Amino acid sequence: MAADLSPIDKAKFVAARRATQFVESGMRVGLGTGSTAAWLVKCLGEMVREEGLKITGVPTSTRTAELAREVGIEVISLDEARWLDLTIDGADELDGKMNLIKGGGGALLMEKIVATASDQMIVIADSGKEVETLGAFPLPVEVIPFGWQTTKLLVEETLIGLDVLGRTTQLRMNGDAPYVTDEGNHILDLHLKRIGNARQLSLVLNQIPGVVENGLFIDICDKVVLGHGDGRVEVR
Ligand code: 5RP
Repeated sequence: MAADLSPIDKAKFVAARRATQFVESGMRVGLGTGSTAAWLVKCLGEMVREEGLKITGVPTSTRTAELAREVGIEVISLDEARWLDLTIDGADELDGKMNLIKGGGGALLMEKIVATASDQMIVIADSGKEVETLGAFPLPVEVIPFGWQTTKLLVEETLIGLDVLGRTTQLRMNGDAPYVTDEGNHILDLHLKRIGNARQLSLVLNQIPGVVENGLFIDICDKVVLGHGDGRVEVR
């Protein structure tokens, strides 16, 4: 499954494969979105097909749902599952307190709902995602299409009083059109460079009308599985 991988893909693959050890038969598992989560889904699919693992998966995007079905994992909705044993997902950045930036792949809303509805969330990532302070990666903020330009202005105004280094905001595009999430919303990417107080920023952003959710995951992640390009894996 993983022959001839680049060091970064190998790091993602070994992290995902190691995380499968936390999955047990009978579990309802939240399935993340992105290239690292895709490795996880493929590894779990192999375990379902070849080792008799019995799980039901709740995908965090239509992309992941398609892949999960393709590899043989039974897919149910969050409404059917109500609550999950475990969610495993990637991240764009993670700090020493296991706080995260997510949403680079545009699925932050479903990812946050699913992770929050889980007994445990495990993040799988290549070691390059680890940072001292969050913020070098642009923070995705999901906004409803109605009045998004006004929401953008309100977000920019809100940033003025906050402990961040950059304040540029950009509507995410898909070619010539605004990017549309699975929930029919747009995404503003906030170029903050350094986020001094992630908890405060998350709370303040979510109070702006038009903001649906932001990509800061504070106190949601319980465990981190970090892969390295040489095949080493660290579990924290
Ligand atoms: C998608 C996400 C992904 O988990 C994040 O972008 C990491 O992706 P990758 O595993 O491809 O590096 O938050 O919304």
